[in-house]
Amino acid sequence: MIHSLPITGKTQIYGIIGYPVTHTFSPLIQNAAFQAIQADAVYLAFEVHPDKLPAAIEGIRSLQVCGINVTVPHKINVVPHLDEVTATAQRIGAVNTIKNQDGRLIGTNTDGQGFIRSLSELPFIPQNKTIVILGAGGSARSILVALAEAKAEQISLVNRTISKSQQLVDEFSPIFPETQLRTEQLENLHNISIDLLVNTTSVGMDGDKSPADLNEFKMVQHVADIIYTPQQTPLLKQAKQLNIPCINGLGMLLYQGCEAFEFWTQQKAPIALMKTTLMQLLK
Ligand code: ATR
Repeated sequence: MIHSLPITGKTQIYGIIGYPVTHTFSPLIQNAAFQAIQADAVYLAFEVHPDKLPAAIEGIRSLQVCGINVTVPHKINVVPHLDEVTATAQRIGAVNTIKNQDGRLIGTNTDGQGFIRSLSELPFIPQNKTIVILGAGGSARSILVALAEAKAEQISLVNRTISKSQQLVDEFSPIFPETQLRTEQLENLHNISIDLLVNTTSVGMDGDKSPADLNEFKMVQHVADIIYTPQQTPLLKQAKQLNIPCINGLGMLLYQGCEAFEFWTQQKAPIALMKTTLMQLLK
């Protein structure tokens, strides 16, 4: 049993900005983690209208807020307001975590690394692997960067709007010369051996559509769907039926939070506790 620490004159403030933000799981997960390490810190949700984003960032500075998560729709627009952005966040072009280091706001992006950490539950290591990503939006971008940084051998992007997947290929091929990036039609991938198929599209959120029929592929070794509501999308149900090891998006959600916590505190995140807290929220 964890007891809350009293709020004091020295309590450090952390939080999340988004619009809307009230549905977020982060306050319960991060406050549980702060309590576990006996930190005199509190984590709150702040609803920030897009017009008020510059003022909110100024507020972080003037109120000396120690750390902030950034969610939709601010992840891209926040970047010009920061003093420093990590190489990974620069590549992704979006920030989901800000640390206030002695008045300097440093932005990073823990989404991709959170995804990579979630793969350990399969287990799966991206190095030298052939990977297919469905989708070419913001999530696909952070996952593509993380997989290429983890030295995947080949990444094929499949997207409804081909110009968007092609744009990612054109942008990242020169940055990651050791990873073969290409845009593909799903049909052209049916006869290759795929080590990991990742769904980053929203197809499956309604519970009755799947972005791919796994029966049509010669070989898919692992499946990851970044959707976590529902916890079992039609794609994941099919993977289970076919005995293909698979994960949903809860791991990515959990581990991006663990990475943010570690970025702020320089301490190991209490992963088991954060996971239990998240699972209780979903009950
Ligand atoms: P996120 O930040 O979660 O990645 P996003 O940037 O809006 O969200 O990207 C959503 C992705 O899901 C896109 O790749 C989108 O395809 P388009 O680029 O063609 O829009 C994909 N997507 C959404 N609805 C889809 C549908 N019904 N069928 C196929 N792809 C879909």
